[in-house]
Amino acid sequence: MTIDDCRIIDLPRIVDERGNLSFAQNGDQVPFDIRRVYWLYDVPGGESRGSHAHRTLEQVIIAAGGSFSVTLDDGRQRKTFFLNHPYQGLYVGSGIWRDIFDFSSGSVCMVLASDKYVEEDYIREYPEFLEYKGVK
Ligand code: TYD
Repeated sequence: MTIDDCRIIDLPRIVDERGNLSFAQNGDQVPFDIRRVYWLYDVPGGESRGSHAHRTLEQVIIAAGGSFSVTLDDGRQRKTFFLNHPYQGLYVGSGIWRDIFDFSSGSVCMVLASDKYVEEDYIREYPEFLEYKGVK
């Protein structure tokens, strides 16, 4: 898996004068079965999250409110995405290092995940990540 496999997914938008609605469901918008949803909120200005990779987990990261940036790294290449639309998700495949930063005030980072929380799936040390990807 490389960052070229990671991409912005456009989610459906039901535009309504009462307020807009978007959704994601198994088999359509998301290329894996969703087994967990979690969200980051109340992130203080200047803080960053992430700084790890997953061995097998796949995720879709959505700026459900506000905005933030996500840098993806496959050990050879890096790419930064700015997420600021609740109708878009960033697909992050397995084996990709991610840093999430520049959270706007009040932003909400919602993550759809392909599995339950398993600490053993995390790679939290960057040198170990490079070794895992076969990069010296
Ligand atoms: P972590 O994934 O390291 O946070 P970040 O968003 O910065 O990558 O998770 C932080 C802590 O929260 C970690 O100690 C485990 C706990 N946690 C759960 O218990 N369940 C979850 O679904 C997640 C994502 C984290």
